[in-house]
Amino acid sequence: MFEKLRKKWKVTGWQLMLIIFTFAVGGSITGFAAKKIMNLLSVQQDWLWAILYIILVTLLWPLAVILVSIPFGQFSFFIKYIRKIGQKMGLIPPLKLSLSPVNIAIFASGAGSNTQKIIDRFRQSEKIRVALIVCNNPDAGVLKIAARENIPALLIEKERFFRGDAYLNELKERNIDFIVLAGFLWKLPVSLIRAFSHKIINIHPALLPKYGGKGMYGHRVHEAVIAAGEKESGISIHYVDELYDHGKIIFQARCPVLENDTADSLAQRIHALEHEHYPRVIEDLLK
Ligand code: GRF
Repeated sequence: MFEKLRKKWKVTGWQLMLIIFTFAVGGSITGFAAKKIMNLLSVQQDWLWAILYIILVTLLWPLAVILVSIPFGQFSFFIKYIRKIGQKMGLIPPLKLSLSPVNIAIFASGAGSNTQKIIDRFRQSEKIRVALIVCNNPDAGVLKIAARENIPALLIEKERFFRGDAYLNELKERNIDFIVLAGFLWKLPVSLIRAFSHKIINIHPALLPKYGGKGMYGHRVHEAVIAAGEKESGISIHYVDELYDHGKIIFQARCPVLENDTADSLAQRIHALEHEHYPRVIEDLLK
């Protein structure tokens, strides 16, 4: 359970201990102070006493934990935590107070034409920044793009990605907020998907749910579309969940499949659609 919490909150074991202490001490202070105040008020009816007590505890608890979090060095965690609870309860509007940009990591394994378009779109942006390129293939063209564009690149290896920490530390160190898959050929480990729940999107070169799933990438998709005699194909931008090409679809765009199309000619048309829409959809999502 503690390990689950630690991952959910993205904190170290030591920090988790301090957070639990803060909860415990803050909770005790709240209970103690609320009782003292109730004694001073000397309310007679039981039901009124209970209602006032609940209101007092609700008001005092955030103050108490915030105060206790200061000596424990957990002030910034608790400010965010209480703001989140307040937002969930509808008490605090979902403000984005920070002026810092949303940091994107692009995961790619190949040439990186989509990556290039995304970089171009956000080069001047103050709100969205391509902060990291993650790649599993040392020969991938996307690494050259990263070098040319002066964007840090992280070359990852299988063992650590699938059986280690999935590079979560590196992503955290670089304050990555959002992950964009652009031709990344490895399935993501569950730990990464959970750490970035609803914050990972992918682009697929066909109209999902058709022509998706394991082994359906690159030319194989277009060959299957042509072999099935489809009259149209397109692109699907979707959230990433634990199954291949399965998460909720965010956006689709269509194009015709022509009589004499080959996988190459269809791929070109699909690429043009991807370049036109992927950067814009990312911007709309993060705005
Ligand atoms: C794109 O066709 C995308 O749909 C798929 O992988 C391809 C990546 O192309 N997921 P590129 O490396 O961005 O040129």
